[in-house]
Amino acid sequence: MSHENKIDHKLHEVTAGEVRFSDETLVRVQAIIARYPVGKQKSALLPILHIAQEELGGHLSADVMNYVASILKIQPIEVYEVATFYTQYYLDKVGKYVVEVCRTGPCAMCGGEDIADYLERKLAIKTDETTPDGLFTIRRVECLGACGYAPVMQINTEFHEFLTKEKIDKIINDLRAKAHEDKPKDAKWVEKFF
Ligand code: FES
Repeated sequence: MSHENKIDHKLHEVTAGEVRFSDETLVRVQAIIARYPVGKQKSALLPILHIAQEELGGHLSADVMNYVASILKIQPIEVYEVATFYTQYYLDKVGKYVVEVCRTGPCAMCGGEDIADYLERKLAIKTDETTPDGLFTIRRVECLGACGYAPVMQINTEFHEFLTKEKIDKIINDLRAKAHEDKPKDAKWVEKFF
């Protein structure tokens, strides 16, 4: 599940304004760091990047990654290496719903490419683009680890399996219908897995 490209991401770009966790979040972050031996605080990088992504703007800008590096007392490049590897981390602004369609062999053989093409047509955007209303971003990713349920896609933290065009229609329509709701707490990566 690695990023294959993103060479267009400008890691040197900084945004205006101070990047900082709230005091409440800092307590959570310190608790995660404390799970690891002294000197091994880098082990807390994955969950802290998830928290940073959730709470500091929805994606990992260079500022955010530099801030995480400063908290963990590691070099920024060590954060970049991880953030640019895993597709779960967004390096650029994304929509409220990130639709990741598996493009690896088993899913491709079961119609995954057609599903991705259909999604592009339905949402009127290309892969790696976001709809003008800011709701959907399409991405094509490597194996999502659910090959037996191919074709598969993941939308934020939810998996959708044995996809058909009819299922895509329902999923997208349902999401559009509830898009005004806040993201449910149990849908957050950090709450679910760390
Ligand atoms: S090939 Fe698609 S989930 Fe593994």
